[in-house]
This record gives sequence, structure tokens and C-alpha cells, in this order.
Amino acid sequence: MSDTEPQIAAGKVLWHFTMSLDGFVAGPNHSMDWMTGTNRPGLIDEYVTTTGAVLGGRAGWDIAAGESRPYGDDWDGPIFVLTHHPEDATPAEGVTFLDCDPAEAVRIGLEAAGGKNLEVFSPTIGRQLLELGLIDEIDLHIEPVLLGDGIRLYDNPGGKPILLHRVGDAGPTAEVNVRYRPATTADRDDAG
Ligand SMILES: NC(=O)c1ccc[n+]([C@@H]2O[C@H](COP(=O)([O-])OP(=O)(O)OC[C@H]3O[C@@H](n4cnc5c(N)ncnc54)[C@H](OP(=O)(O)O)[C@@H]3O)[C@@H](O)[C@H]2O)c1
Repeated sequence: MSDTEPQIAAGKVLWHFTMSLDGFVAGPNHSMDWMTGTNRPGLIDEYVTTTGAVLGGRAGWDIAAGESRPYGDDWDGPIFVLTHHPEDATPAEGVTFLDCDPAEAVRIGLEAAGGKNLEVFSPTIGRQLLELGLIDEIDLHIEPVLLGDGIRLYDNPGGKPILLHRVGDAGPTAEVNVRYRPATTADRDDAG
């Protein structure tokens, strides 16, 4: 399977995540220790350069607050956090807490992004934006792991299927074929 083309800055709304093969973006208790990290050269730079602003949810923010920013210290753009109760959020530099509908949050985020992309780092907000037709791309990095439990990228029991077109590929509706085998102890030792 070919890798995706490098991301470009184009005022897009990206739902951007690292995800397990079985569709989780966080493990139980928001764990992230299953991530092995990117092997695509320059990937972090790619998103540092193309991201104008980030929109997240309050749960994700409360976990990361004060400890980590998207892309570490290399990216210093504005972050918007959607919450129904901004009054009890801990203020942080460059972070604006919004209590508005998701469409308004996107409008604010895109304006702040100044022509670069707005990255949505929240499963719950992404789902709402998808329903509103406000997601331009779902941009995923798929880890070779099955988690079986945690927070799903798209959790919508009883909802209708959302049909997708693969971006930048000759067969936008074709299935993608991948093969994995369970890692052995030797594989894990080799990975360090
Ligand atoms: N794998 C990756 O690449 C990646 C990247 C980013 C985040 N994550 C993970 O994703 C997880 C967070 O996801 P999550 O689904 O638990 O929570 P979340 O989406 O971060 O936050 C949910 C909260 O956002 C607020 N919210 C959502 N929609 C709203 C609306 N329409 N109006 C006002 N507020 C709204 C609500 O906050 P209030 O309750 O305050 O009202 C809601 O409880 C974390 O574990 C994080 O680490 C993974």
C-alpha cells in the first residue's frame, strides 16, 4: 500500500489521529503507551508547517494540560478547547476555552489558522463535525496494534454508515489490503 502524499496547508479541517488497527485513538484510561512513533521521515515537520490551529475537547485537554502541546515545542499556534464549563478550566498561554456550537468553533479555528489547516484532536467533536459536513479530511496514522478497549475514533452506536473516499488514490472507493501477523518476542526485542 502506498503512503499518503505529504499534507499541505490549505485551510482544511482535518480530523487527525494516530489510531490502532482496531480503531482506537486512546487505550483504557486514556493510555497512549501503545504508540510506537512515526517512521515517515519529516512527518512532524509536515504537520508543524501545515497546521494553523488546533481544536480539541475538554477531556483530552484536561489529560494533556500543561504537560504536552501538539507537536511538542516545535508548534506554537493557537489551541481552542470546547467545553460546556470554561469557567473551571485552568488557563494556559495560547489556549482559548470555547462554549459554543461545534460549527462556530470551526469558524473561529479556521480564522485563527490563517489559511493553514485546523486540526481536530477530539473524537467526540470530530463526530459532531462529520454530521454537520464540516470535516474535509480524516488523516490517520495506523499503528500495528490491536487494543480491544479504549476511546474509538468514531463511536456512534445506532448511527448510519459514513461512506468515505480515499484521498489521493486512483481507486477512491476501493478497499485497502493490509496483512499483519502477531509480533513474536524476537520482533519486540528487535524493536527495542
Ligand atoms: N491518538 C491520537 O492521535 C490522539 C490525539 C488527540 C487526543 N487523543 C485522545 O483522545 C481522547 C479524548 O477524547 P474524548 O472523546 O475522551 O474527549 P474529548 O473529545 O477530548 O472531550 C470531550 C469533551 O469535550 C467537550 N465537548 C465536546 N463537544 C462539545 C460541544 N458540542 N460543546 C461544548 N463542549 C463539548 C465536553 O466537555 P465538558 O464535559 O467540559 O462540557 C466533552 O465532555 C484522549 O484520551 C486523548 O488523549 C488521541
